[in-house]
Amino acid sequence: MASNSIYFIGNWKMFGIANSYKILDKINHFFQKDKKNNKKYKIIIAPPFTLLQKFKERYKDKKILISAQNCHNQDYYGAYTSSISPFMIKKIGVSHVILGHSEVRQSGENSSIIREKTLLAIKNNLKIILCIGENKKDRSRNITLRVLKKQILNVIKKRSSLKKILIAYEPIWSIGTGKVPTNNELKRNIIYLKKYLKKKFNTKYNTKFLYGGSVDKNTINDLKKIKELDGFLVGGASRSSKNFIDIIKNFYK
Ligand code: PGA
Repeated sequence: MASNSIYFIGNWKMFGIANSYKILDKINHFFQKDKKNNKKYKIIIAPPFTLLQKFKERYKDKKILISAQNCHNQDYYGAYTSSISPFMIKKIGVSHVILGHSEVRQSGENSSIIREKTLLAIKNNLKIILCIGENKKDRSRNITLRVLKKQILNVIKKRSSLKKILIAYEPIWSIGTGKVPTNNELKRNIIYLKKYLKKKFNTKYNTKFLYGGSVDKNTINDLKKIKELDGFLVGGASRSSKNFIDIIKNFYK
């Protein structure tokens, strides 16, 4: 495998109410019992803002990490109705934040905002799960790699940021559609980007890349063959403990 730890990250999007901690409890129960493999992977769950604090309190001393799904591009406090700053997220003990998700980009978020958020998240010692991905048109025009490189370089300007960021490659056409790239396509993109970043930033550091987009207990069987991947960002299938656990089970089968 490409790294010591494989990440299984659940992005709950707009899902979850108070008793949804039960899903997390079941995942945690599985994790505790999975003595054979549980040193090899990390679980991160990204619930909506309404559940962040509750989940963090419940999982304070546990191995399961909690991530926010977004943050604002201004720090501390301010007159930004409906927003949560990186500082506020860090203060409740959350370790990660997802930035640049295509569903957020769609609502008008551009690269410079994502960069500002990234810098503030780093300043607050949060780790970033940075989403990138081409749309259907980019893919058919054969400009996927160009698009992905641009999305990364618009946000990451310094070598020192690389270690604080997990890049989640999520082709937009694969999110929630049941479609995933072929292993060849995915492998080509990941290998290319990893090599490119090493050269660009003159580093030996192997930037971590996750794949996201229709990851489930079936698609994982092929995806797991791509040794260059460091983990998976799971949307729909992460909202049921059984589906999420099955992904991990099948990965190690
Ligand atoms: P999906 O979503 O697994 O439901 O395709 C992935 C994501 O949007 O992160």
